[in-house]
Amino acid sequence: MRVLVIGSGGREHALCHHLGQTSTVSKVFVAPGNSAMNETLPELQVAPVSAMDINALLNLAIKEKIDLTIVGPEATLSEGIVDLFQKNKLSIVGPSKAASELETSKAFAKKIMMAAGVPTAGYSEFFDADAALNYIETNPSEKMVVKCDGLAQGKGVVVCMTKNDARLAVISLMKEKLLGENVDHIIIEEFLEGTEVSAFALCDGESFSFLGTACDHKRLRDGDLGPNTGGMGVFSPATCLEEGDAQWINENVFAPMMTGMKKAGSAFSGILFAGLMKTKSGWKVLEFNVRFGDPETQVLLPLLNENLAPWFKAAANGEIKKLQGELGRLSPLKKDKSGVHVVMAAHGYPGTEGVKVRTGDTIHFLNTFLLGKNDFLFFAGVEKNEGQLKTKGGRVLGITSLAENLTEARKSAYENISKVQFDGSQYRTDIGKGQI
Ligand code: AMP
Ligand code: GLY
Repeated sequence: MRVLVIGSGGREHALCHHLGQTSTVSKVFVAPGNSAMNETLPELQVAPVSAMDINALLNLAIKEKIDLTIVGPEATLSEGIVDLFQKNKLSIVGPSKAASELETSKAFAKKIMMAAGVPTAGYSEFFDADAALNYIETNPSEKMVVKCDGLAQGKGVVVCMTKNDARLAVISLMKEKLLGENVDHIIIEEFLEGTEVSAFALCDGESFSFLGTACDHKRLRDGDLGPNTGGMGVFSPATCLEEGDAQWINENVFAPMMTGMKKAGSAFSGILFAGLMKTKSGWKVLEFNVRFGDPETQVLLPLLNENLAPWFKAAANGEIKKLQGELGRLSPLKKDKSGVHVVMAAHGYPGTEGVKVRTGDTIHFLNTFLLGKNDFLFFAGVEKNEGQLKTKGGRVLGITSLAENLTEARKSAYENISKVQFDGSQYRTDIGKGQI
């Protein structure tokens, strides 16, 4: 197969690395990728086509005779790339534009969950600021979560510890339009407490295969302090899962969501990423994403003991059940190891503390930097400039290490990351800390 990966971050670098490791894949393309990916994958074809230009991506796939396309970013899915590729008889892994609403519209996701009986926080929906403000007054709890219905540059969720915080959130979102004019639809959700876990399933519209769990660290600084980010590091598998929890999640989250989406006329294909919370009263869904996580993918894929290429092909062709039958198992094989991934971000990242995110810092690797067979280096915000690797902003790179247990994986990941240096680099020192 000739495969195309769409996107440019660490998640896509990990996908390209993974797909390049099987003899069933003859060539891997990435669009737009980043110019540093070839440092670790010299054979990778980096094609400078924007992830938002779905017509240009279609032309690329036709010209390069791509057999299978895998989409990283949610924005590309929301543009309708899956509908376009399928119309042109090209195999692609991902949800249709309509099914992508599961991520883009919190209210749509809630409706599907409620109808399908998937456990989630209670909520109310508002199209009017005054109605939302009235509701806040009558809410028996001080704590609640205000969420914008649509995509809001990652700033659409405000966790409020007091009614006053909630009032301010509603006023700034709906009256002062702090995130733009299009915020006229919000939900206010019950505040949940517990441990957060990301769980992943590969779906084909009818059936699914469970891919595993991971725990992201979304705040910038150690101890879960500082601003929210895309994710500063992750460990896998999640340690808070008890015997039977994965099966419970399959039966009570993924399976009913597949049925519910089909019933709603938007059968779900691609990666279903459930943001879950383990609360005192059981597992609850916080949100769904319709794609692989970044950085979760950078640890999930290295932990697999077989290549996903045939699974991806089956997902694109509605043949997951058939593949499961042929292989005699429901999921891809996993290594009996734990993994830790640490992200190094640019100076100023995430750009919400009044400091601009800096670009152009030279990345140095100490002479002692040497990756073992259980270590993986993935580039995200990096570009190669006159033979040197320079930061391009955001999350710059990340390193995954696998080991027999989390303590060893942590030690190894941090030993590796300490040998990568650039001015202004930021990374958390507590990814996976205190986990047994
Ligand atoms: P979301 O984009 O919906 O996952 O929300 C972003 C973050 O807000 C989550 O990772 C949680 O940390 C937090 N959050 C979202 N919903 C709730 C909730 N109902 N209760 C407590 N925290 C929440
Ligand atoms: N790491 C969280 C996400 O990919 O949305």
